[in-house]
Amino acid sequence: MNTIPEAPLNASPQDILRLGVAAANGPVKLACSFSLEDVAIIDMAKESGIEIGVFALDTGRLNEETYEVADALTERYGITIDWYFPKHEAVEKLEREKGLFSFRESLENRHECCHIRKVEPLGRALSGLAGWITGMRREHGVTRGDLKSIELDQLNGGILKLNPLLDWSEAQLLAYVNDRRLPQNRLLKQGYRSIGCAPCTRAVQPGEDARSGRWWWENPEHKECGLHRR
Ligand code: ADX
Ligand code: SF4
Repeated sequence: MNTIPEAPLNASPQDILRLGVAAANGPVKLACSFSLEDVAIIDMAKESGIEIGVFALDTGRLNEETYEVADALTERYGITIDWYFPKHEAVEKLEREKGLFSFRESLENRHECCHIRKVEPLGRALSGLAGWITGMRREHGVTRGDLKSIELDQLNGGILKLNPLLDWSEAQLLAYVNDRRLPQNRLLKQGYRSIGCAPCTRAVQPGEDARSGRWWWENPEHKECGLHRR
């Protein structure tokens, strides 16, 4: 059974990673979507000698540009990315019965697609882990305001969940990524600020909320795919 370590006030992301990984009774991996946040976390762990693994959920609908970041990371850090795919029978059934864009038709359909392509594979990715790490930040929106930097993930077997960048602003993150010349998704230069699956992500206008380009046809309180249910 994991216990939640006490993170000191003003703990840095590296402190949170170090504390969380030390407290976990087994392997800890980063869930990597190849966002700036996730790339920064890999860099911090490497720089500080903190042992973490990396897994990614290939939904089958990611942008080419996202795979390019994966490749750049493998080259720069020599890491192995543990890729997880959805169950092919479930995707085949979904696409045959409901078409390729069913997620636009209703919230229920959207959750169904996210469940098949993300949530079910996440369950397999987390099996055997003592903890996982995400790039979530409080600024991402209403659904992430009350998270903790280290929490117990009761819905995933009580393992630790570390959110080391929770209290970082976008400006802090950009400064870190630019200073260290970390790999960045080329779509960011085209106005994208938060990148998920290609058909459910679009660029945003200056001044718009960073995540307003995700599932842009839905209300802000619905903008979660189920990976971070609590
Ligand atoms: S989402 O739930 O709305 O899709 P978001 O894109 O904000 O999530 O990413 C938040 C965090 O969830 C990422 O920093 C990463 O830790 C995890 N995550 C999101 N998508 C994936 C993915 N395809 N593979 C692995 N981890 C992911
Ligand atoms: Fe499906 Fe869109 Fe969810 Fe990706 S983000 S799993 S394409 S509904």
